[in-house]
Amino acid sequence: MNHPELYHRANCAQRRDVELIIKKYLSKIQWHHNGAVSLIDMGTGSGDVLMDFVYPHMGKSLQRLVCSDISPKMLSYARKHVVNLNMAEFRILDMGTEQPLPNDLAGQFDYVTSFFAFMYVKSQRQALKNIHDLLKPAGGKCLILSLGKHPLFSAYIALSKMQKWSKYMTDVYSFVAPQHYCLDPRDDIINFMIEIGFSDYHVEIEHKVFDFESVETFKNVIVSINPFLDRMPAVMHEDFMQDFLTAAFTDMNLKMKPMDHTGPLSISYFNLVIFGSRS
Ligand SMILES: C[S@@+](CC[C@H](N)C(=O)[O-])C[C@H]1O[C@@H](n2cnc3c(N)ncnc32)[C@H](O)[C@@H]1O
Repeated sequence: MNHPELYHRANCAQRRDVELIIKKYLSKIQWHHNGAVSLIDMGTGSGDVLMDFVYPHMGKSLQRLVCSDISPKMLSYARKHVVNLNMAEFRILDMGTEQPLPNDLAGQFDYVTSFFAFMYVKSQRQALKNIHDLLKPAGGKCLILSLGKHPLFSAYIALSKMQKWSKYMTDVYSFVAPQHYCLDPRDDIINFMIEIGFSDYHVEIEHKVFDFESVETFKNVIVSINPFLDRMPAVMHEDFMQDFLTAAFTDMNLKMKPMDHTGPLSISYFNLVIFGSRS
């Protein structure tokens, strides 16, 4: 993802879901306000979700805040435009890295958060191991919210099979959540968490519906997050997005052309929620 300003304008669904999940997990997370609290967010993106829904819970006890992302462009936008805190650190980090974690990060955090980034890592097991290893050994906690199943993934796969788009989408499965086709999407994650040694864990599938104001609003989100447009000439973008919408409508069983749809567009999907603690 490399369009932070577009994403910042279009991320209404992500913002709604993170706000709700933070409220729902208040009693498990138990943000503590006594003493010096440290938090690293992974896949911070434009930064507004972190600042609007997590930061207010930390208050004056926050001593260390690390924003991290695999994309220098996303991180630079968050630093310049959204995360206006002198104490904030900005680190380029692949949450699924197989390299050793930097010494000044490993085992340092009371909290690790990550919203709508976990579905993009190469190995979710490795990402969970890294998250575990970033937590303080005595009671660090993580909260991860990720997309599980979504019509956008079905549309990506459908387009990758079309001759005109296939050459731009050879790695399409890197952008499809592994949970999209799973019969029991919790299984692997729970097994990984047990193997890795989380002392407490809770993995949940949340069925959701988001009513986008219009087809255009939904399209704007997809333009801001999909990696494929940047690989093709700009003159092809509109054609790609029209094919994308047609494929998404087919997946949702909507028997009309996207351009004929008026009013709000309801999208059903599921999120994967992962809570864990280390002790
Ligand atoms: C959909 S945005 C979510 C941004 C923000 N967390 C939010 O909820 O609005 C996904 C972010 O994850 C980042 N990302 C993708 N793969 C990543 C990885 N392997 N490690 C760290 N960040 C990653 C992208 O660069 C992007 O900024």
